[in-house]
Amino acid sequence: MFIENFKVESPNVKYTETEIQSVYNYETTELVHENRNGTYQWIVKPKTVKYEFKTDIHVPKLGVMLVGWGGNNGSTLTGGVIANREGISWATKDKIQQANYFGSLTQASAIRVGSFQGEEIHAPFKSLLPMVNPDDIVFGGWDISDMNLADAMARARVFDIDLQKQLRPYMESMVPLPGIYDPDFIAANQGERANNVIKGTKREQINQIIKDIKEFKEANKVDRVVVLWTANTERYSNLVVGLNDTMENLFAAVDRNESEISPSTLFAIACVMENVPFINGSPQNTFVPGLIDLAIKNNCLIGGDDFKSGQTKMKSVLVDFLVGAGIKPTSIVSYNHLGNNDGMNLSAPQTFRSKEISKSNVVDDMVNSNAILYAPGEHPDHVVVIKYVPYVGDSKRAMDEYTSEIFMGGKNTIVLHNTCEDSLLAAPIILDLVLLAELSTRIQFKSEAENKFHTFHPVATILSYLTKAPLVPPGTPVVNALSKQRAMLENIMRACVGLAPENNMILEYK
Ligand code: NAI
Repeated sequence: MFIENFKVESPNVKYTETEIQSVYNYETTELVHENRNGTYQWIVKPKTVKYEFKTDIHVPKLGVMLVGWGGNNGSTLTGGVIANREGISWATKDKIQQANYFGSLTQASAIRVGSFQGEEIHAPFKSLLPMVNPDDIVFGGWDISDMNLADAMARARVFDIDLQKQLRPYMESMVPLPGIYDPDFIAANQGERANNVIKGTKREQINQIIKDIKEFKEANKVDRVVVLWTANTERYSNLVVGLNDTMENLFAAVDRNESEISPSTLFAIACVMENVPFINGSPQNTFVPGLIDLAIKNNCLIGGDDFKSGQTKMKSVLVDFLVGAGIKPTSIVSYNHLGNNDGMNLSAPQTFRSKEISKSNVVDDMVNSNAILYAPGEHPDHVVVIKYVPYVGDSKRAMDEYTSEIFMGGKNTIVLHNTCEDSLLAAPIILDLVLLAELSTRIQFKSEAENKFHTFHPVATILSYLTKAPLVPPGTPVVNALSKQRAMLENIMRACVGLAPENNMILEYK
């Protein structure tokens, strides 16, 4: 059975007019490695830590500003939300299609609530905590191309033509603000597009972005803004001591107009200065140490990197399954070809390299978790190839070969062909990122050892389900396995309403 919403009744949970307060017992373990009777032993001690959560239930009017608004993702997301809001349906060659939010964790997935008279009861994921309704988001943003969103949607060649015709009137008047263009950071083949750019020094460019955000907020009467980078993949920035290693050095470098500060870092600096959450959907190292330092000092949410939409999502499921089953992946080879502007930009070696790095580390946590299979330092061969093939457009093809060692020296090979409709997979992920980023800024918590409530760490690991290379605070383990990432998010949200984590034990039926 599926229920639309529910309320938790418990001595540990209180619903006030402004917040949901919960007391939550976090069941964890404490490990000690100690000498007992002459031999070192690992001792595991279960322990319970009491936490208190409080979630502000006032859902703000949300503005979302996309960097790269006129790109395939930006135009697809904007059009998709308008289609949902307006209840648009359109004719395809198969059927009359209704707008939906398929592919969005928050809007289209469910959680198990419990069982009732022998039946499993599920509810929408979004029913856990009060969240912004995507239909109510006001979109805006920047692009180095001045094309309006209706024409950008046509350029993207993602939506069916009947849908495009219906969306056009809503999108024609949407024109991106000028972006920060630096040809050194993206492929030379993007130069033709760049007719809408902010001139001036780096400091002036930052000031302009801040002004844009303020004006957008004022003009649209939104309470809160989230900014998300879905512009072209940039090359990596060099990390240089004295340049971008600390907040002070980064600011000084901006004032010297240093060339090694990328446009995405400039956008992020502007947002963090304004306490506007900033999410990076591309693979480059926008979050140089100086920027992370700034975000921590300003307690401003930053999250990234690189949307986890197609091939990598499969990889973080499949390798988790294999290693979890005691099977040893020894070679993972991933080929991609795509024909959209992202693919054209990635055809330059420097930008490809950013993508390669982001796609490569995704199996590390799973491999490192099993020393029965892998000797220290041993790793499967892992190769990623990306080619630009214009004809396939936004319909990216991903082909993977996973070879593993099985019982008694046997070999198992899995070959996968995955048609990743690029922007149709990415757009709902962008939606989840901005909705969850906004939600997480309304949650405060403290452990029994702390006397003051605080927000989550500004480096938002809570978003890691949605990103290929999760950005984590220094010294924090990176989790790539998809099911763990989802469980983390769901269980934290459950804790906020005083529900135990989903442990799948289903003891009531045993
Ligand atoms: P796109 O090339 O269609 O869109 C990017 C837009 O950014 C373009 O309109 C371009 O003019 C604009 N732009 C470039 N530099 C800019 C700047 N400095 N300031 C403002 N605007 C700028 O690409 P698409 O397909 O929308 O992808 C966007 C990003 O998302 C890419 O970096 C891609 O690698 C990343 N991504 C996409 C995934 C997907 O499945 N679609 C998955 C993972 C990451």
